[in-house]
Amino acid sequence: MRIGILLSGRGSNFAAIAASIRASRLTGVEIAVVVSNVAEAGGLQTALELGLPTAVFVSKGRKRAEHDADVIACLRAHQVDLVCLAGYMRLLSPHFIAAFPNRILNIHPSLLPSFPGLAAQEQAFDYGVKVAGCTVHFVDEHLDHGAIVLQRAVPVLETDDAHSLAERILAEEHLAYTEAIALVAGGNYEIQGRRYVKRSR
Ligand code: GRF
Repeated sequence: MRIGILLSGRGSNFAAIAASIRASRLTGVEIAVVVSNVAEAGGLQTALELGLPTAVFVSKGRKRAEHDADVIACLRAHQVDLVCLAGYMRLLSPHFIAAFPNRILNIHPSLLPSFPGLAAQEQAFDYGVKVAGCTVHFVDEHLDHGAIVLQRAVPVLETDDAHSLAERILAEEHLAYTEAIALVAGGNYEIQGRRYVKRSR
């Protein structure tokens, strides 16, 4: 399975996926291209250091549909089967989602449907939850919304602040994304409404 990574920032989730592939924790999967909408994204530098193909399509000031059309064309040119959003700070257009039906994953640093949107870890901490976590889900037209592949829980400690909580969530994200990609690449599942359901063999 050829995956395309979309990122806008430091790219630690992307780096964790790449490390999993190199260490054979994730097999049958290769990163076909790393795409960013931000030229300065740290994740792009990591991709270059790893010798992976990269592409930049600056989104600022462009119409969403036009920008997305460039990204879709790039993903197709690299024969991408599965798109993995890894800190990609853009809503995808309906056209993008239709171009890769049930073939786009996202990771979000909360136990959805709690705390969608920005600064989810801080939202959870400020709310006073006792259990936080992360979610890998398929992407649909709504923000942080599609069918959930898996979640990992992270207890909130008495000693935590929003920053320390976010760090521990991030460590779980790095495990969760590899696990979720392996599940999707394995193909032994179906999506029933909102539910990701493993098929019995
Ligand atoms: C992660 O917290 C991810 O859950 C969210 O954006 C952040 C990206 O971090 N969608 P990184 O760029 O992968 O380090």
